[in-house]
Amino acid sequence: MDATDMGSDLEKILLTEEQVATRVAEMAAQIDADYTGREVLLVGVLKGAVMIMADLSRQMHTELTMDWMAVSSYGSGTKSSGVVRILKDLDTDIDGRHVLVVEDIIDSGLTLSWLVANLRSRNPASVEVATLLRKPESAKVDVDVRYVGFDVPSEFVVGYGLDYAGRYRNLPFVGTLAPHVYQR
Ligand code: IMP
Ligand code: MG
Repeated sequence: MDATDMGSDLEKILLTEEQVATRVAEMAAQIDADYTGREVLLVGVLKGAVMIMADLSRQMHTELTMDWMAVSSYGSGTKSSGVVRILKDLDTDIDGRHVLVVEDIIDSGLTLSWLVANLRSRNPASVEVATLLRKPESAKVDVDVRYVGFDVPSEFVVGYGLDYAGRYRNLPFVGTLAPHVYQR
């Protein structure tokens, strides 16, 4: 999928495919440097983190395994409430493991804050977080995020894993939608 396929649904490209690729490679290098000599378990949060997980992991040299969680945040409409339900749990026992949670975006931070607390209760050696995007102006809770790709304004973004109503995840860039998309 590219910008042409979106026609007038695309408002603007916020981060190009090249910008994302460059930053993801930098994040991988930083993670490699930090985890030297330690095996890491990348935990991807479905479904949005699929693209960042695929690209980040392929740029990494550190020994790693991957697992996935799916969580759903109870709340009214599009707003996160912080009350989270596990739809798919890890297949892996993380006792003693170095866990790196891989996220697409941190908005209020409520989902992630719950997730990190949940993972910490399972006695891992460490839990850190890597996210492609963060909206600092939307933060409701302070979550310690070790690796951040880009800080973005508090606008709804799609692409590179991020969806609106399930669509646009397969855009290679990150962009915003024209207002008429939300109105239909
Ligand atoms: P939080 O609990 O408010 O941090 O919610 C984070 C989750 O909301 C993310 O993992 C996304 O699934 C979703 N989300 C937040 N902002 C956006 C956005 O701009 N585009 C697409 N999904 C978003
Ligand atoms: Mg997510």
